[in-house]
Amino acid sequence: MNLISNTVPTQPVIWPVITIDGPTASGKGTVAQRVAHALGFHYLDSGSLYRLAALAAVRQCVPLTDDKTVAEMSRQLDIRFVGEKILLAGQDVSDDIRSESAGQNASIVAALWQVREALLDRQRAFREAPGLVCDGRDMGSVIFPDAALKIFLTASVEARAERRTKQLKQKGMSAIIDDVVKELRIRDERDINRPVAPLKRLHDAQLLDTTEISADEAVASILDWYSKTPKNSVGV
Ligand code: DC
Repeated sequence: MNLISNTVPTQPVIWPVITIDGPTASGKGTVAQRVAHALGFHYLDSGSLYRLAALAAVRQCVPLTDDKTVAEMSRQLDIRFVGEKILLAGQDVSDDIRSESAGQNASIVAALWQVREALLDRQRAFREAPGLVCDGRDMGSVIFPDAALKIFLTASVEARAERRTKQLKQKGMSAIIDDVVKELRIRDERDINRPVAPLKRLHDAQLLDTTEISADEAVASILDWYSKTPKNSVGV
């Protein structure tokens, strides 16, 4: 008797992911959101999770270097993304997590390996139909190493500082460009040199330097690269 079934085994569908990693203020967020919108994909701003973890720690007076406690808190965080708003335990913290100090604090907790571990599953859960665009530092290296397309998006520190200063001023926050340059350098240094999941350009990532190009041009390049990505390589 032939016990071998002739039905074709169904492969689990792995939804395509586009990862956009790069240094702070390189324009990743704007570009990633526009790419997601153009493709009708979900969007994950992974930096917001580290910003939320740091904010929760500060609010509960937990030292930002206490890996175990911040990791436990990160697992329990009640986070909701509602349109443009980010709610932490039901409270709108969208502006609170965007300040420069919130970014620096995020960079401190992001260097702790137990915290990174605690946020792994939460990030991978964003991979849903019909696909995901995500930005961060380790999206292509650690979270979605099998991504269909990996981008390393960068710009000169001066261009990034100029954009960040403009953004902060638009939000009514004060900002001096020389201070912003210094802060970006400190954050770059920490994100690049930490032992866990450091920011680095992967050999299989497309380099996209936005110093001299607009966000629209960056989006167009990514969409073009994605249209040329063999879709069977991502399991769909
Ligand atoms: O992208 P952002 O500026 O919102 O990120 C805030 C900090 O979080 C950044 O300094 C480094 C950290 N981060 C990280 O380590 N890994 C990620 N995937 C995203 C952000």
